[in-house]
Amino acid sequence: MKQVRLGVVGLGNIGKFHTSYLLDKKISRCELTAVSDAYAPSLEPFKQHKQLKTFDRSEEMIRSGAIDAIVIATPHYLHTTIGIDALNNGLHVMVEKPISAHKADAERLFAAYKENPKQIFAGMFQLRVEPRYVKIRKLIQSGELGQLVRMNWIITDWYRTEAYYASGGWRATWKGEGGGVLLNQCLHQLDMLQWLCGMPARVRGFCQLGRYHNIEVEDNITTYMEWANGCAGVFISSTGESPGSNRFELHGTRGRLVLENNQLKFTRNDADMIEFSKTSKSGFAKPDIWNVDIPIENAPNPHATLMQNFVDAILDGAPLIAHGTDGLGSVELANVLLYSSLINQTIELPMDSAAWEKKLNQLIAESKHEKKVVQSTADDFTKSFNR
Ligand SMILES: NC(=O)c1ccc[n+]([C@@H]2O[C@H](COP(=O)([O-])OP(=O)(O)OC[C@H]3O[C@@H](n4cnc5c(N)ncnc54)[C@H](O)[C@@H]3O)[C@@H](O)[C@H]2O)c1
Repeated sequence: MKQVRLGVVGLGNIGKFHTSYLLDKKISRCELTAVSDAYAPSLEPFKQHKQLKTFDRSEEMIRSGAIDAIVIATPHYLHTTIGIDALNNGLHVMVEKPISAHKADAERLFAAYKENPKQIFAGMFQLRVEPRYVKIRKLIQSGELGQLVRMNWIITDWYRTEAYYASGGWRATWKGEGGGVLLNQCLHQLDMLQWLCGMPARVRGFCQLGRYHNIEVEDNITTYMEWANGCAGVFISSTGESPGSNRFELHGTRGRLVLENNQLKFTRNDADMIEFSKTSKSGFAKPDIWNVDIPIENAPNPHATLMQNFVDAILDGAPLIAHGTDGLGSVELANVLLYSSLINQTIELPMDSAAWEKKLNQLIAESKHEKKVVQSTADDFTKSFNR
């Protein structure tokens, strides 16, 4: 194969965004040859492109012979069913975040990949190429930051209006989405959190359901996490606060990193703080510090970078930036923080995926929420990308 023939399923916000750079030929050795959406009017604008086949059923696109690979950009629950169908029919698969709506579904998707291990299976976790997070990771992995002792992330600038929640029948419902701010808005941050710090050993969530909006899922959360080495931290988010904050703070024994207002600052300890405490003769002395401003810039089109990497993996065997199975950590965190809150208990990880699925099914069965869907005005949703 010299060129990858790609299909996109789900032509909403992010699906259309992917098709725009694909149609602009921003991805080399790749041609968008088919699109699919269950809502027929979404296909209309694509019919002007002669090379494109359009399908209102993903099953038909998958079996059409028109594509070698598929990008799944539908509501979360369908990531699993469409992903399994595509893998079982010989396609390479790129799945949008979250990899699945819940951990048990992710395990089903991974089982299908295990059956078809030669196919490329990737996840759209584009923050993994953002220089600010890449640099933080380097500082951790090189030992510059020392042993991690604290992680605090307050990301409350995910402000969303009622119009946002009304814009899609699936949004912010147990049945259509399976969660709220954790699974949707914060999913990328949860991916970063576990990519940088590893998975915590135990967590406790405090989530408020429909605190600010007429929705049944969580839109305001305060959560506590603890790692096996004793590192501890809080992760706080909301879609109801404006202006809100976005401050990510990581403390290691060799200093403190703060990412805020698109600036990355490293306050570096001259000595490891634990060693210093053991050896200092003075009761009030502190390690000397160095203030380092770390230059950062935004990646120009991180989604396209991951898409190019997906194509390169298919054609050349290039290593994936984000393997599909890497999507487990973020979905598990989104699920377990909410589950912990709902059952009012601290939970040890790895979580019991079947227990959460059972709880979620109960929430779906008992839901009395009535959702009114209203078309919103044409917003520039790409404004929400860069956090
Ligand atoms: N990586 C990112 O930066 C990013 C950004 C936004 C959304 N997302 C993810 O992408 C997914 C879609 O989000 P969105 O905001 O684009 O949603 P959306 O509601 O705007 O679009 C979803 C689209 O899927 C279509 N659809 C629904 N059921 C279908 C089916 N059975 N077959 C084919 N098409 C179907 C809908 O008609 C709609 O056009 C979500 O999982 C979301 O988490 C990722």
